[in-house]
Amino acid sequence: MTRQAYVNGVYVAADEATISPFDRGFLFADAVYEVTAVYGGQPIDLERHLDRLERSLKELKFGALPDRKELAEAHRKLIAANRISEGFVYTQVSRGAYGGRDFVAPDKPRLTTFLFAETKALLDVPAARNGIKVVSVADIRWGRRDIKATGLLAPVLAKTEAKAKGADDAWLVGQDGLVTEAGSANAWIVTKQGEIVTRALSHAILPGITRHALFDVLAQQGRKITERSFSIEEAQAAAEAFNTSAVALVAPVVELDGQPVGSGKPGPVTRQIQKLYYQAIGADVAKVAPWVNE
Ligand code: PDD
Repeated sequence: MTRQAYVNGVYVAADEATISPFDRGFLFADAVYEVTAVYGGQPIDLERHLDRLERSLKELKFGALPDRKELAEAHRKLIAANRISEGFVYTQVSRGAYGGRDFVAPDKPRLTTFLFAETKALLDVPAARNGIKVVSVADIRWGRRDIKATGLLAPVLAKTEAKAKGADDAWLVGQDGLVTEAGSANAWIVTKQGEIVTRALSHAILPGITRHALFDVLAQQGRKITERSFSIEEAQAAAEAFNTSAVALVAPVVELDGQPVGSGKPGPVTRQIQKLYYQAIGADVAKVAPWVNE
């Protein structure tokens, strides 16, 4: 089966998709992106991803938006054409190509829109089952992390450093000494008092769509989330910790800078949150992730 991708309104074989080397996404990382989880052949929280994409483009003053209906349709068509049951759709929109290099953004953008879809196990994976090890790395990113821009050198370096240290991910620590987020996920702790904590939204972190979904599923259970910052030391002393993102979904963090978090195993609150989130996206938990009930 030839993998299909989408470039500027045209469905093409992914291997044959081309974008100009003059594209501002390539020259300046003048581009934004979204990663939408796919489960049961359906894009998860697609409207919220499209809302965030449009917000990112507006914040960067792109002056134009891709057609929203066409983007939604492209998600569905790529999921079907590539027969994705579980995985993700990647969407990138850049300010386009102009045959030269000028820092100043053009008055009239000619957007480059690129989408591809990939099969990837999201639920029944070792990270979700057994948890992940995390190391802390200084957060050297720019000041508008609420915009989902493609300039991702800082997380590339942080995650590569984490791997070199035998860990699975990095938690980024800002100049205030407090955790901003994970390399490509939001960071959470559960305190020994049972408080579920994640950093408040600001320019310092990405407003995660999975983070937002947890607010909904926990509110339905009458459980509160506390939005505040925390340090690595507080997280090491916490009962539990976890990451959330469209590809990690809910991943327990069982070790932080070489110290076990809580029991060093995924804790009961994280398991409950995994279960609630998996159910919310339509998973038959007893069948696909029975370990959440163990
Ligand atoms: N990353 N924080 C950062 C820095 C991220 O890059 C991401 C997602 C998140 C979680 O957001 P969401 O729940 O909407 O996926 C938080 C994607 C998955 C990526 O870059 O691959």
